[in-house]
Amino acid sequence: MAEERIADIEEVPEDSTLLFTVREGFDEKEVVLVRLNGDIAAWRNFCPHWTDVRLDKGSGAEFRDGEVVCTRHGATFEPDSGHCTYGPCEGSYLEEVDVEVRDGGVYLAEDHYEFDHVGPKSDRDLSSGRIGFSGN
Ligand code: FES
Repeated sequence: MAEERIADIEEVPEDSTLLFTVREGFDEKEVVLVRLNGDIAAWRNFCPHWTDVRLDKGSGAEFRDGEVVCTRHGATFEPDSGHCTYGPCEGSYLEEVDVEVRDGGVYLAEDHYEFDHVGPKSDRDLSSGRIGFSGN
């Protein structure tokens, strides 16, 4: 199996998230990496309150007092456990994705996902402009 290196640890921001896309069959799914003290956690990029709301909209999720914030209704999540500590989905958890840290890199460790690319799903518009399919 190909090495599923997602990024260098250094590329994962301290107070935000690094967004990447995995493939499960024909489906693309977004995942965010969060830097912890010397470790990395990974969560599916949606809010448990409204699952069509993304935590990282393409330029990093918001952090407040060390917690991930869903900007839609203000829910906050512990970056290491994914536990929602406040907000309309208080008590719920983000969906975890297994990653491994070794040799200064972060690797995908979920058998049913394949790493596709860093960044949002290819069928999404970014606020800064459309992603073209022409390759230019
Ligand atoms: S959608 Fe995230 S708090 Fe409501």
